[in-house]
Amino acid sequence: MAEKVIKTIGVLTSGGDAPGMNAAIRAVVRRGLSSGLNVKGIYKGYLGLLNEEIIDMTAKDVSDTIERGGTVLYTARCSEFRTEEGQKRGMDVCLKYGIDGLVVIGGDGSFAGAQKLANLGINTIGVPATIDLDIACTEYTIGFDTAVNTAMEAIDKVRDTSTSHERCSIIEVMGRGAGYLALWCGIANGAEDVLIPEKYDYDEQKLINNIIDSRKKGKKHHIIINAEGIGHSEAMAKRIEAATGIETRATILGHMQRGGSPTCKDRVYASILGAMAVDLLVAGKSCRVVGYNHGEFTDFDINEALAMKKSVSDYQWEVCQSLSHNYSKNEQDKKHARSKKA
Ligand code: ADP
Ligand code: F6P
Repeated sequence: MAEKVIKTIGVLTSGGDAPGMNAAIRAVVRRGLSSGLNVKGIYKGYLGLLNEEIIDMTAKDVSDTIERGGTVLYTARCSEFRTEEGQKRGMDVCLKYGIDGLVVIGGDGSFAGAQKLANLGINTIGVPATIDLDIACTEYTIGFDTAVNTAMEAIDKVRDTSTSHERCSIIEVMGRGAGYLALWCGIANGAEDVLIPEKYDYDEQKLINNIIDSRKKGKKHHIIINAEGIGHSEAMAKRIEAATGIETRATILGHMQRGGSPTCKDRVYASILGAMAVDLLVAGKSCRVVGYNHGEFTDFDINEALAMKKSVSDYQWEVCQSLSHNYSKNEQDKKHARSKKA
């Protein structure tokens, strides 16, 4: 069958916003226009598609956006689009506006929507954007680099006050069910303990022993990075304070991690991924998701991409653990023997 010739493409952002989304939108618009296509911007993800919030985009519309956080097309979650009727209506709207190719910038949920539209005959390409880094087919997602740097800087600041007051600080970072933000901050901030859903054994006594041991060794603070997937930082702080006698505070970084001007890496990678998405559409491709792996920009079938699994590297986790406590090998062996006895 001949591949469909695309004349008009649409672009939308969907799910949680991520810094760098604007760079991707800008790349789609400008690459699309320079490839001779008409480009339409769809506001508020699938919700805006169903509500026909659709505008023609010019190169100028994306001027002064690459440095801005958030998404100029706004984003939303849309439960109606999870239904077959919603998806069929989405296809009808695309046909009404002459949109025969669609670039969906978002996470796995948004790609599931793109997959459904592709099955209904609209050529779709997904561009991975989420601060959580939890998309299996790619080592890189738009927004993670900015978010992890934002969190790292915030944690450095909490650490200053934690040291001054000789406190224990639990700092909760985002990541829904994924611990990548927490793991990276754990290493980058030199945290004493890192709790991530993929690895935490919920042995709070071990955590308490670590805090007491490190205090005995003269540590002035004890930084615990807690991933959102574990959560309950306030309650944990109360229990730790009661068990150790050390003043303990919880700080939940929250949505500040999703905002702010994107880093150079997020601007550049998002630009390349956005341009690639257009090139795939021009080449007649559909139901693909672009990504970055082993030093190369790549693309996968969305069905395959959604079936892939991703997990935290055991080696990176082990390195994080081994750097988090300043124990010698002998001390560590003794500690392990002690905890085995107990
Ligand atoms: P993300 O794209 O960041 O993973 P969500 O999981 O919230 O974010 O998904 C964003 C939107 O994608 C949802 O609000 C919904 O409109 C659409 N979506 C999610 N899952 C599906 C699905 N299985 N089928 C169709 N659309 C979906
Ligand atoms: O997926 C990005 C993310 O920020 C997650 O880390 C978090 O769990 C979720 O979105 C929060 O979403 P919202 O604030 O939009 O409900």
